[in-house]
Amino acid sequence: MSEPKKLYIKTYGCQMNVYDTARMKDVLAPLGYRAADTPADADLVVLNTCHIREKAAEKVYSDLGRLRAHSRAKAEAGGRMVVAVAGCVAQAEGEALKRRAPLVDIVLGPQTYHRLPEMVARSLRQSGVVLDTEFPAEAKFDFLPPPGADGPSAFLAIQEGCDRFCTYCVVPYTRGAEYARPAAQVIAEAKGLVAEGARELMLLGQNVNAWTGEAPGGGTWSFGRLLRELAEIEGVSRLRYTTSHPTSVTPELIAAHRDIPALVPFLSLPLQSGADRVLKAMNRGHTVAEYLATFDALRAARPELRLSSDFIVGFPGETEAEFQATLDAVGKVGFVQSFAFKFSARPGTPAALLPNRVAPEIVDDRLARLQAALADSQSRFNHACVGTVAPVLFDRVGRYEGQLIGRTPTMQAVHAEISAAAMGTVRAVRIVGVGPNSLSGVAETSDQERDAAE
Ligand code: 5AD
Ligand code: SF4
Repeated sequence: MSEPKKLYIKTYGCQMNVYDTARMKDVLAPLGYRAADTPADADLVVLNTCHIREKAAEKVYSDLGRLRAHSRAKAEAGGRMVVAVAGCVAQAEGEALKRRAPLVDIVLGPQTYHRLPEMVARSLRQSGVVLDTEFPAEAKFDFLPPPGADGPSAFLAIQEGCDRFCTYCVVPYTRGAEYARPAAQVIAEAKGLVAEGARELMLLGQNVNAWTGEAPGGGTWSFGRLLRELAEIEGVSRLRYTTSHPTSVTPELIAAHRDIPALVPFLSLPLQSGADRVLKAMNRGHTVAEYLATFDALRAARPELRLSSDFIVGFPGETEAEFQATLDAVGKVGFVQSFAFKFSARPGTPAALLPNRVAPEIVDDRLARLQAALADSQSRFNHACVGTVAPVLFDRVGRYEGQLIGRTPTMQAVHAEISAAAMGTVRAVRIVGVGPNSLSGVAETSDQERDAAE
């Protein structure tokens, strides 16, 4: 192995990017790259970017501006900093990125990061930009080393890309067509993560519940079947998946929620708007009534199941009455955790060309009103948790000595004073308080009591 070099990766955007960043680190490790704490003295800086909204994309350019000084200082000291832009901005902008930011040495899309070592080597040999934004025929997952678990909760990408083409969304263009990893590959990766200490698997995909994949013995498995098989792996305490599309919540998936205790009673199921006309213009493929019926069916199968959602306010032509319909839907569902965004016209998407853009001050006002309604909905749920006992998987140390932080099955963060031995285990915790973004709790059983009972 060559001598250690320093690598700094900044991750923007979604959990898939967090997963991708970990895989880029894995693939660069054999070249001798080790994590640096800051970009200042890194030999290789990778910006793993997000293109979903304008703000996210623009952040990349301001960060590249800041990197210039570090790169210059490194060159003056006789070194060289290689700068790579990966992810969805790289995919969308390609060569244009280099023109706007000459500092950039490598531009690579989300489908080619298994080729990163080769690109770095080429960049060190030659001048000019190394560009790879192909959608290669080979599946990158076949070329990546097995990932390591980084704590009790681990991400596992099972699906990538999206074929749904919601009219506002860049994902089908930047991540490409839907690809489902074969079941055997997913199961092997899951087993590896559990062997390294993972207890919770968070299955990732842009349209994760559309997963239908090659079965180990030939034929295909549905997503529900995959969930059943993953739940059978010894050591898996919890299964989650994100992000889902409402039209892919099949009866079989609902049955999986009824039958699999490890599958958490929580789903990220974006509604985007509470008005049917807007949903149609967004090409979401369902009505509000159908969404509510899906929620009812899920709750009939698993009564404690709760939803989180994403919303877009100010979609072109959105009227006040249509926005009110979104507020009404929030009232009906009682989402426990949600995200609301201002519509951002993304280049190349059909919605970017729509007339009747909503005035910025109206969009701001609607965003504030929706966020207040969502905060209220979350707060109601959190307050209703007080006095209940929840199974909490502790996965982080808290800010104070003796404190650990974990999550309930419905994703609420819980702080508790508890022995360090609770890390990576699921404990019964009585919820005693509600903070702005989290709950506080008291463990129901002490370690001594647990030991005595075992
Ligand atoms: N403008 C605003 N929000 C968007 N999202 C996706 N594309 C856009 C856009 N062009 C939001 C959706 C999606 C979440 C990940 O980002 O709500 O569910
Ligand atoms: Fe984008 Fe729609 Fe696909 Fe989600 S389902 S990634 S919003 S196109």
